[in-house]
Amino acid sequence: MENNVSVAAIPMPRIGDKAPAFTAVTTQGTISFPDQYAGSWVILFSHPADFTPVCTSEFMTFASLEDKFEELNCKLVGLSVDGLYSHIAWLRTIKEKIEFKGMKDVEVKFPLIEDITMEVAKKYGMIQPGESSTKAVRAVFVIDPKGTIRAIIYYPLSTGRNFDELLRLVTAIKTADALSVATPADWRPGDAVIVPPAGSCGVAKDRMQSRDGITCHDWFFCTKPVSVEEVERIAKSK
Ligand code: BEZ
Repeated sequence: MENNVSVAAIPMPRIGDKAPAFTAVTTQGTISFPDQYAGSWVILFSHPADFTPVCTSEFMTFASLEDKFEELNCKLVGLSVDGLYSHIAWLRTIKEKIEFKGMKDVEVKFPLIEDITMEVAKKYGMIQPGESSTKAVRAVFVIDPKGTIRAIIYYPLSTGRNFDELLRLVTAIKTADALSVATPADWRPGDAVIVPPAGSCGVAKDRMQSRDGITCHDWFFCTKPVSVEEVERIAKSK
């Protein structure tokens, strides 16, 4: 793709689309995305710039939580429109000098893509000119083991991400997939999940309440319990 293609000319990937493919140089060598990650969940995320405070706090948090994402079989891949030597110098500074909220000596082991040409950032709709035409916004793409985009979140430059939410989001999607359910507002492991209603209400409602632990709040809104242990088993599976 030509580097001077305007952002408006490139369609933004959407939920349900296949993750756009690219090859890129990273702090962990060259990656071929998403095929190299087939079989794993991936969070592909962008940050506006190296050597900036919000991004530093985010990288320290991502790196500190990498084991928790690994437990979900979820790999992390970062990107900014900075070059490789800037990335390397910034990550070294983080490890050697920065202490923040009890985190220190933090080593970022996941790949950070260099994208000076903005080719990847533009493919993923990470350049949003109303916010900045020279920096990527804080985008998060959750991509499943088949390379399909399952969730997208964008944050402005000024706002650091909520990492509990990212872990919760991957867990919720995996739970919904495994049990053919949905998760309600503010769902957390151990909370009831939403099951499809069983057609006509009255009869089905009485029957379901007595048989499967299902509670119907109305004909269109039924929930059932799922234990924390069951969710943890699902979350740790492929
Ligand atoms: C930050 O990470 O602190 C930041 C980066 C770009 C613009 C504003 C803030």
